[in-house]
Amino acid sequence: MTAVRELLLSRIRDVADYPEPGVMFKDITPLLADPEAFTALTDALADIAVRSGATKIVGLEARGFILGAPVAVRAGLGFIPVRKAGKLPGATLSQAYDLEYGSAEIEVHAEDLNAGDRVLVIDDVLATGGTAEASVQLIRRAGAEVAGVAILMELGFLGGRQRLESALSGALLEAL
Ligand code: PRP
Repeated sequence: MTAVRELLLSRIRDVADYPEPGVMFKDITPLLADPEAFTALTDALADIAVRSGATKIVGLEARGFILGAPVAVRAGLGFIPVRKAGKLPGATLSQAYDLEYGSAEIEVHAEDLNAGDRVLVIDDVLATGGTAEASVQLIRRAGAEVAGVAILMELGFLGGRQRLESALSGALLEAL
């Protein structure tokens, strides 16, 4: 394991039975509170952004905003928020996706993504992959190209990588 990865993982706190019994929550607040770790994470994600040839960064609500915004600034790219339904004031494109029980919907301002844009999606966790997959569909429906999806950590036992890799069709999936 690289020193950076070791540092990042050491700053993620496991919280048992949150938000419900049986779930082990990955709390990134200790990482955010540590300037060395947060800077190392921002640098690593900005390297991925530059390598991917991205022209825009999409962050997924809410922790993808915290990670993605400094990456956009560091890489000199625009930041586009993909939000849960009903939070954006302008004309939006929406994408619904299935949850274990029920469904969810994410949205982006239609004017923020266009043909010719090459987009890197950033988030903290890949669990089932449903949120990231929906963001890929949303970006493509807006006419933009997906450069890839970069995430801090992957909950491998949930199979999100397999689901997302087929949706990405060749674009990069990088877990730090
Ligand atoms: C978490 C996480 C990812 C998503 C991953 O966000 O930050 O966005 O779930 O899950 P999936 O791979 O199964 O789709 P959450 O929906 O809890 O939103 P929050 O960041 O606003 O708390």
